[in-house]
Amino acid sequence: MIVTIDGVAASGKSSVSSGVARALGIPYVSSGLLYRAATLLGLEAGVDLHDAPALLALLDNHAPRLEPLAEGNRVWSGTRELTDALHSSRVDAGVSVVAVLPELRAWVDAQLRALPEPFVAEGRDMGTNVFPHAGAKFYLTASPRIRAERRARERPEDIPAIEAALVRRDAKDQVQSAPAPDAQVIDTGPLTLEGVIGVILEGLGE
Ligand code: C5P
Repeated sequence: MIVTIDGVAASGKSSVSSGVARALGIPYVSSGLLYRAATLLGLEAGVDLHDAPALLALLDNHAPRLEPLAEGNRVWSGTRELTDALHSSRVDAGVSVVAVLPELRAWVDAQLRALPEPFVAEGRDMGTNVFPHAGAKFYLTASPRIRAERRARERPEDIPAIEAALVRRDAKDQVQSAPAPDAQVIDTGPLTLEGVIGVILEGLGE
């Protein structure tokens, strides 16, 4: 059984997915971390982030892999843990460039489809492209201001700057970010984290 939770940047997907996964007693899979890992490796190697063959060569060499745990996903490259370095503003700013490359999307999709079920898959296109036959699909939204306010609690930046960066990333991610026609769309704006998790568990009949 696969449950997909897609949504816009900073809509709370990871926290919600983690909560739902814990309630169900299964892992969650954060697909964005693989795009972030490719971006980080590209930035560290000084590779042009538009250069798909160069990025794929790096991925071949470093073979980053996702460890999907219910408490939080980790990413490894050999024995080096990349997780903490994946949420910098530099990676945020570059990741949408990498995520539009079809070759990179194919690489991420292959990693995800190789994971053993069951799990909760979180991202942009989990319910549309990667797992179209998922048992249940959800899509999270919230206004840019609310998302910026939430993110400001995690990062030492001011709300208008975060909001502007989110709006830029939304525009770049638009193509791969449409909700699946059979997804339940949830506006998380008026809800707490527990509230969103509750709506999803109810949707799953839990
Ligand atoms: O979810 P998160 O913010 O970590 O995702 C980082 C970036 O990875 C997104 O802004 C988007 O460009 C890309 N992404 C994607 N498809 C996914 C997950 C993430 O294009 N399924």
